[in-house]
Amino acid sequence: MWLIDTENFEPQSLEDLLSEDERVAANRFRRPDLRNRYIAAHGGLRVLLRELHHIPLDAQAIDRNGYGKPHLMQYPGLHYSISYSGHYVMVGISEGEPIGVDVEIIRPIEDAAELMDIHFTAAEQAEVRSGGALGTCSSRKFLEIWVRKEACLKAFGCGLNIPLNIVECAHRDQMTTVQLSDSQFRTGALQYLGDPIMAWSSRISV
Ligand SMILES: CC(C)(COP(=O)(O)OP(=O)(O)OC[C@H]1O[C@@H](n2cnc3c(N)ncnc32)[C@H](O)[C@@H]1OP(=O)(O)O)[C@@H](O)C(=O)NCCC(=O)NCCS
Repeated sequence: MWLIDTENFEPQSLEDLLSEDERVAANRFRRPDLRNRYIAAHGGLRVLLRELHHIPLDAQAIDRNGYGKPHLMQYPGLHYSISYSGHYVMVGISEGEPIGVDVEIIRPIEDAAELMDIHFTAAEQAEVRSGGALGTCSSRKFLEIWVRKEACLKAFGCGLNIPLNIVECAHRDQMTTVQLSDSQFRTGALQYLGDPIMAWSSRISV
């Protein structure tokens, strides 16, 4: 797993590595920082695939399932996941089993109470509320649970089309096992100097 800080990133070096579709997608961003972040993510992924997994650029064709989850067309056993927040990009690559990653910068969550009512289990809500008044110091606890849920859903591949509250991620200090459909997923948190908050999830092979 990699965390890329794009704050002072100059995109020229990676732009040439993008596919035609990615170039079009990058140029849809009006804000230069979002465009650069997108180029860092997709160019960075291509460098990792080439240098670490020895996949040449012309064999890195990407397709997406009906929910938008990307996969390498010629390498069905190699999986990756990308997430964005603030000026950070998180990339996870996994050999064998699908992976999901999620990164969130720490910030006040204005509608935390409503989001928790809809998406969090009772145990998760209790854990967040034990951190103090909503919207202040508890936003870290909220996000620590949120990233793990989202990483699981991204590993599963249906995104937010399945309810977040069926993924139980209370007791966030531990690695959790989650059942989704007929597969099990493991999920855990990652630390990087306390900010941003990150999580990964990977299917457990049977
Ligand atoms: C997947 C999803 C949870 C990502 O949420 P997010 O917080 O906005 O975004 P993040 O920054 O964490 O992740 C973005 C990346 O997730 C990946 N992604 C998109 N859809 C995905 C899915 N279904 N499963 C796993 N990963 C997905 C992509 O790589 C995307 O980056 P890219 O477009 O630059 O390649 C959300 O986009 C979602 O629920 N998508 C489903 C949409 C859908 O069902 N569409 C139906 C067809 S129109």
